[in-house]
Amino acid sequence: MSHLTIVRPLLERLDLAPAGRGASTGEWLPCSGADVPSVDPTTEEVLAVARAAGRVEYDAVVRAAEERFLEWRARPAPARGEVVRKLGERLRRHKDDLGTIISLEVGKIRSEGLGEVQEMIDVCDFAVGLSRQLHGLTIASERPKHRMIEQWHPMGPVGIVTAFNFPMAVWAWNATIAAVCGDTSVWKPSPRTPLASLAVQTLANRIMAEHDALGLWNLTLGGAEIGAWMAADRRLPVVSFTGSTAVGRGVAAQVASRLGRSILELGGNNAVVVLDDADLDLAVRAITFGAVGTAGQRCTSTRRVFVQRGVAARLSDRLVKAYRTVRVGDPLAEGTLMGPLAGAASVKAYDAAIAAACQQGGKVLTGGAALDRAGFFVEPAIIAAAPHARFPIAWEETFAPILYLFEVADLDEAMAAHNTVSQGLSSAIFTESLRSAERFISAVGSDCGIANVNLGTSGAEIGGAFGGEKDTGGGRESGSDAWKGYMRRQTSTINWGGELPLAQGVQFPID
Ligand code: UN1
Repeated sequence: MSHLTIVRPLLERLDLAPAGRGASTGEWLPCSGADVPSVDPTTEEVLAVARAAGRVEYDAVVRAAEERFLEWRARPAPARGEVVRKLGERLRRHKDDLGTIISLEVGKIRSEGLGEVQEMIDVCDFAVGLSRQLHGLTIASERPKHRMIEQWHPMGPVGIVTAFNFPMAVWAWNATIAAVCGDTSVWKPSPRTPLASLAVQTLANRIMAEHDALGLWNLTLGGAEIGAWMAADRRLPVVSFTGSTAVGRGVAAQVASRLGRSILELGGNNAVVVLDDADLDLAVRAITFGAVGTAGQRCTSTRRVFVQRGVAARLSDRLVKAYRTVRVGDPLAEGTLMGPLAGAASVKAYDAAIAAACQQGGKVLTGGAALDRAGFFVEPAIIAAAPHARFPIAWEETFAPILYLFEVADLDEAMAAHNTVSQGLSSAIFTESLRSAERFISAVGSDCGIANVNLGTSGAEIGGAFGGEKDTGGGRESGSDAWKGYMRRQTSTINWGGELPLAQGVQFPID
């Protein structure tokens, strides 16, 4: 079924005309880059055509961000929060349409599309609260009549590069936190999801116009060349990059070479450990959502399961049964639990991973084939894997719904394999044992940025700092004190006495 009938009225409601658009400073700039089609992965139809920013528009956008920064950094943080609060309200009002755009462009089911918009709304609320809590420290000075403080100041325009799979929420994690921190931002979304970014920018433009803040949130749509310009651009002291490890490595090196700061959120290869004493009802539901949800295209998707021998057969039977009830199809249709993959290349990667898994000694328990229909559909697959050390396909992140099951003797064996992969984003354990659970989240347990007990690897709340270690890049975005990544720290010592005592007791007499 065509989705074009859904798109047209939706764009009208948002007052969005994508043709020729891809760069904005609050006002749209005419774009000189290539056309950027929005391809619906469900129907393979072109939903709309936007336009990439060229170098000239990119420079104009960065200049606007620089200019606004000079004013924005001096606005009181709670006043900045007020602007973010208004953005949150606007997102609430358009939640339904924004969620639909995500379903249309990414293929997420309705509930997950809406969930992503909710994630933006949540982070707006978080940022508003934060705007009154950008606390520094008071530090005891060793010198009499001296006081030491540590405070946080805005950094400058922040570059934000986001991936197709969370085409709105990841912008919000960065752009709203950066905004309350006093930073402006320049966003390069994935060229696969032009409508999602144009829709968000359209709403942001209205908020900026109403608050005399043009240049606060800026957009430059386009491909890898814009990411490369950003990485090399000294006008962007911080670059937040979400995407593949391969591309992130290059961005990190480029940003580091100019001594800029990068915030990296790269690939994951997330595992669930299921011990003999686990509540299997919970485990089956969490693993299925983690592996099948978003068609396995979250960086937090569950890709590996280490199951203890005593429950291995039961778990795999129940997972296979659960998978067979998963309805694959149009993400906007009632009852669908899994939509399409992003494109033909993703289907190819899925096929190649299944073939490699079989060749390395894996056995397909369910799924494993692309669907013979329009759109980029595959079956969610479960593979009984060979031992982890001899099964290299499971060491890689394939962005598709493929789950590898490893049978292990105990938690020791599970942990030894768990931490051997190069990625370190998310992880989870299912057990009723306090000892096993605590060990899993202890210093000798999971080496990931996220380690959960009795819930799955994906679907993190925004209140925590989000990110992971090793090839995941080490960055943290969104909640907790991730805001510090968007600010510069300043230590000030204030002398309120009439003497000039030197630190460390140094004497330097001058007559
Ligand atoms: C991503 O896939 O890049 O934890 C982000 C989750 C979501 C975010 C995923 N809140 O699954």
